[in-house]
Amino acid sequence: MNKIAEELNRYPQDYWDFKGITKSGIHNIGKYPATMVPDMQYQLLSVISKHLNNKNITLLDPFCGSGTTLVIAQELGINSVGIDINPYATLLSFVKTHKYNRTDVCHAISTIKNNLEQESNFLIYDFVNIKKWFREDIIKSLSQIRQCILLEKNQDIRKFFWICLSEVIFKFSNDRTSTFKLHVLPKEKIDLIEDKCMEYFIKIINDNSEHLNYSNITSSNIIYGDSSSIIDYKLKGEFDIICTSPPYGDNPTTVTYGQASILFLKWVHSKDLLCEPDILSNYSKIDYLSLGGNKNNNKLPDISIIHEYIDKLSENKKNKVIRFLSDYYKSLYELDKSLSVDGYIIFTVGNRKVDGIEQPFDKITENIFKSLGLRKVDLFKRNILFKKMPKKISKIKNMGSVESMSEETVIIYKKEK
Ligand SMILES: C[S@@+](CC[C@H](N)C(=O)[O-])C[C@H]1O[C@@H](n2cnc3c(N)ncnc32)[C@H](O)[C@@H]1O
Repeated sequence: MNKIAEELNRYPQDYWDFKGITKSGIHNIGKYPATMVPDMQYQLLSVISKHLNNKNITLLDPFCGSGTTLVIAQELGINSVGIDINPYATLLSFVKTHKYNRTDVCHAISTIKNNLEQESNFLIYDFVNIKKWFREDIIKSLSQIRQCILLEKNQDIRKFFWICLSEVIFKFSNDRTSTFKLHVLPKEKIDLIEDKCMEYFIKIINDNSEHLNYSNITSSNIIYGDSSSIIDYKLKGEFDIICTSPPYGDNPTTVTYGQASILFLKWVHSKDLLCEPDILSNYSKIDYLSLGGNKNNNKLPDISIIHEYIDKLSENKKNKVIRFLSDYYKSLYELDKSLSVDGYIIFTVGNRKVDGIEQPFDKITENIFKSLGLRKVDLFKRNILFKKMPKKISKIKNMGSVESMSEETVIIYKKEK
């Protein structure tokens, strides 16, 4: 057994579940679906980085989501790059990893509080379907907060304020929030919403500002876009560690990261987002740009476990799965190019079930790694505790009900000469 596997296997079986440990500090800022467990990432990355002979370790998270891994990398003194196709993810990752100046933040907070009290002359904000998702008095309060955020001249601080606004928006919208797909609450529930947007926003900026990064930290570069294309033209051979939890199915039918963020993104001024405004034109566009949403890619690799799994599926499910796994393969193929020799790749994956058929995503991932010439270091399973998702995520047109997972697998491979 190699030294990393030996060290990781010294822990008892249930150690990696991190039972009873909740997210705290900077990890609690914003609201993003299916985030990783920070303590697990910390433990894993500290073991791996100890075994690298390099002092200036670099890490890539190609599906960085809320930036959990990037924050941990900073804590461990590792420079990192994070990529995501969801502009909420890149905004949140930026705010969580950026080094702020405490005096500037305190000053900006007292200014915005004053402006919120005084600003009575503001435009009521509007976008397509706004009244479906927000009650009129809530639109008025959110418009006032939005206008006051725009008065802040420091863009990095504005980004922090937008993230605080996201928490207000998710709390006071008409969305049911119990699933990641958008569903309007029944009218009687909408009537019960109390407009406390302003008080809540002030509480959130005060609370969240306590957790921002004010001390010297290693750098984290956040890039918006599709990770395969970015790696292809920018990031070859650079990273000692690639560490991520990829999407485990196509976004439109599994975890709809895009839909879960769009109600907030509609409120942000496009000058503060890393993406083109066109991405937000439609409520599902982000999900269709994500892995598995690309209708033109259906080139599967010649890996038998993938074909055996696809053969078991009914015709109406096959295409979506083929699309997702083709994109997934393309992504891993590009990622391999960005991993340095002697570098480690760490994927945390889950096997979803669609209509009772389990997708062996752990084995598929391992087989792709092997086909790329990577060598196995270790693999272990952990239980997913604290799940927000119900056992059955949702009923999806032509897909039946999609079951969520209770276990995930951590897969570690290495690139050798
Ligand atoms: C399981 S989540 C990552 C969660 C993250 N580990 C965290 O702790 O928040 C997967 C992420 O992949 C992103 N994604 C999907 N397709 C992508 C693509 N083609 N390029 C970049 N990111 C993509 C989704 O937007 C989502 O944020």
